[in-house]
Amino acid sequence: MNIAQVDYDGLIPNNVGLGQDPRVKRALEKWHPGYIDWWKEMGPEGFQESLVYLRTAVSVDPKGWAKFDYVRMPEYRWGVLLAPQHEGRKIPFGVHKGEDAWQEVPGEYRAMLRRLIVIQGDTEPASVEQQRHLGKTAPSLYDLRNLFQVNVEEGRHLWAMVYLLQKYFGADGREEAEALLQRRSGHADTPRMLGAFNEKTPDWLSFFMFTYFTDRDGKMQLEALAQSGFDPLSRTCRFMLTEEAHHMFVGETGVTRVVQRTCEAMKEAGITDPNNIEAVRKLGVIDLPTIQKKANMHFSLTLDLFGNEISTNAANAFHAGLKGRYREDRLKDDHQLEGATYPVLRLIDGKIQNADTPALSALNMRLRDDYVVDANIGVGRWNKVIAEHGIPFEIKLPHVAFHRHIGEFASIKADVNGNLLSEAEWEKRRGEFLPSDSDREFIEGLMQPQFEPAKFASWIAPPRVGIDNKPGDFEYVKIADA
Ligand SMILES: [Fe+2]
Ligand SMILES: [Fe+2]
Repeated sequence: MNIAQVDYDGLIPNNVGLGQDPRVKRALEKWHPGYIDWWKEMGPEGFQESLVYLRTAVSVDPKGWAKFDYVRMPEYRWGVLLAPQHEGRKIPFGVHKGEDAWQEVPGEYRAMLRRLIVIQGDTEPASVEQQRHLGKTAPSLYDLRNLFQVNVEEGRHLWAMVYLLQKYFGADGREEAEALLQRRSGHADTPRMLGAFNEKTPDWLSFFMFTYFTDRDGKMQLEALAQSGFDPLSRTCRFMLTEEAHHMFVGETGVTRVVQRTCEAMKEAGITDPNNIEAVRKLGVIDLPTIQKKANMHFSLTLDLFGNEISTNAANAFHAGLKGRYREDRLKDDHQLEGATYPVLRLIDGKIQNADTPALSALNMRLRDDYVVDANIGVGRWNKVIAEHGIPFEIKLPHVAFHRHIGEFASIKADVNGNLLSEAEWEKRRGEFLPSDSDREFIEGLMQPQFEPAKFASWIAPPRVGIDNKPGDFEYVKIADA
């Protein structure tokens, strides 16, 4: 069969030949009803009967992989899609570098590999759970559609990981697949595995920040796993990255549109001081300092997802050839790193400073550094919009020591510039750095739905182009039961 084409005949669309693999097909068909139950219980609240203009993957050819149509979300065709196999692919790094890529799970690394897949898998349904209440306050049908597109694709990413578990990990893979449907974001007893995925996404600015910052962590993790010597994982992640790009687009353009609307409103009203918060808020837009605080929060929570700066797990996964570096294939070194060092930002003698560390142990830090570079690009675009309006304000990513709960800086308090603060100073100044109760209340008050085609809430500018080149008044969601 042609790998680029997806088989849509059965219950589970796929390009992995499920039809010829009755054991895995049965396992996935058995898992399917539980997934649908989960989607109905924990997926977007109140829009399950609405017709949503969604893209569905019909191919894994990067040049034309999706088709758009109206779909009821529970009827979305969640499928199992792997990027094409590269003939003769070799393990690109670690102790097995140069050997043939694994098509089956290498026995000695089974537990480590399963854990990597489960952790990635757990984040996918978590974000759907976090975002389930947002539909009710969407600022436009365009944004509502984008939210649901992200949600159904996170659902598909869960399918992608569950396929690997069911196909390659036997009975314990089945158990893990079940457990992925049992955990719940923010639940006291059965939370999701990683901290940032148990936080609330209470409003649309948070949603845009989440898709900008936290989905970008997803991108980095997928890029590292796409390098894996375990070929099915690599191929799965490569296709997921195609979808992930849209999620970050939603985040980046979402924040841009919020910033733009604020700047336009300020200019119209003749307000030049960005810190005149009261006056700006009276215009029905979100003041720039509050946008900065939201960025501080989501950036710092996301940094925690990279784990400890110095990590034996990360070293082992690289050494074994399971998880590589960001764009490993473009790096020019020996790809084994046995004697190499990497500078890690640490707390030494009460000061934050770089220390050379064995590069293998510092792989989380390295991925996080690559992430920060990537995350700064969009911030530059936001600032360009502000500068174009002549407003003296710049959004900046906070220091990596700011507001951390994992790693080197979890035990200290620092301001957004990385200056150490005492507990008492931190408590006193917290509201300068992170959204306060009154900031949250203000934003909540703005979150009124706007479900008329071509209209947008007061606090956000329309997008420059529609999805699938649709005109501005296109009805992206035909609401049935909101
Ligand atoms: Fe995802
Ligand atoms: Fe995503």
